[in-house]
Amino acid sequence: MQSNIDLHGLRVAVTGGTSGLGMALVRQLTAHGACVAFVARTAANVERIADETGAHGIVGDVGKKADTYSIALQVTANLGGLDVLINNASSLGPVPLALLADTECEELETALAVNLVGAFRLTKALFGALAASARGGRGALVINISSDAAVNAYPGWGAYGASKAALAHLTAIWDEEAKADVIRLLALDPGDMDTPLHALAIADADPSTLKRPEAAAAEVIEKMLDALPVGATLRAGAHA
Ligand SMILES: NC(=O)c1ccc[n+]([C@@H]2O[C@H](COP(=O)([O-])OP(=O)(O)OC[C@H]3O[C@@H](n4cnc5c(N)ncnc54)[C@H](OP(=O)(O)O)[C@@H]3O)[C@@H](O)[C@H]2O)c1
Repeated sequence: MQSNIDLHGLRVAVTGGTSGLGMALVRQLTAHGACVAFVARTAANVERIADETGAHGIVGDVGKKADTYSIALQVTANLGGLDVLINNASSLGPVPLALLADTECEELETALAVNLVGAFRLTKALFGALAASARGGRGALVINISSDAAVNAYPGWGAYGASKAALAHLTAIWDEEAKADVIRLLALDPGDMDTPLHALAIADADPSTLKRPEAAAAEVIEKMLDALPVGATLRAGAHA
């Protein structure tokens, strides 16, 4: 983690903030001074990470339409606006992983509901807040966490891979469309990480071959600073 970054004044929302990459992001962003709100479904874990980091914890399911506006309202009410949204929460689809011929339609729907439609809905619900930040000259950014499964045809990863491919393409199109609002959208593949999601997918993976989520989070923060107009200022340690 770079010590000279000062993110005071930057308002960031992270979905899936209680484990793996999302938890590492919440820890590093708050340690650098950012105002952070994060979302996850398990209340006890949300409370634990909120207590530990001082970030605002929100209990919600990004795959559920009914939760979207409550999540968005809590984000903007607690942060007073929004500069960066990181759509990180994800579903593998069938667990254990299954060939497409053995995948239930409902399992494909769950992967799409969380990884694609959930990210779309939350981004739409927060678009006004992001546009206000962009108009104010602070810049606005949506980071959608993708995967190499979005581009490689890994057998067994059909539901997840299709949802991530759709998310990556949606991100690229929306990035073109949002240029008028000066909002950037990026899809980032964090690489294979030693996290509960990876263990759920590949139980016998050798952790020493996997990236630490903390290293991936530091890379995401670097890319965030590259994409924000105020990034150079924040890197130099001056307040936004
Ligand atoms: N791990 C890898 O090797 C790898 C590789 C490439 C890409 N990625 C991507 O990196 C991102 C993070 O993955 P990870 O490995 O860090 O995952 P993880 O350790 O399983 O953490 C997932 C987080 O998301 C939350 N979450 C899951 N479903 C949710 C939902 N419907 N609504 C709200 N929160 C939800 C979980 O908490 P609750 O269960 O309490 O909700 C948890 O906080 C994902 O987008 C994943 O696809 C991971």
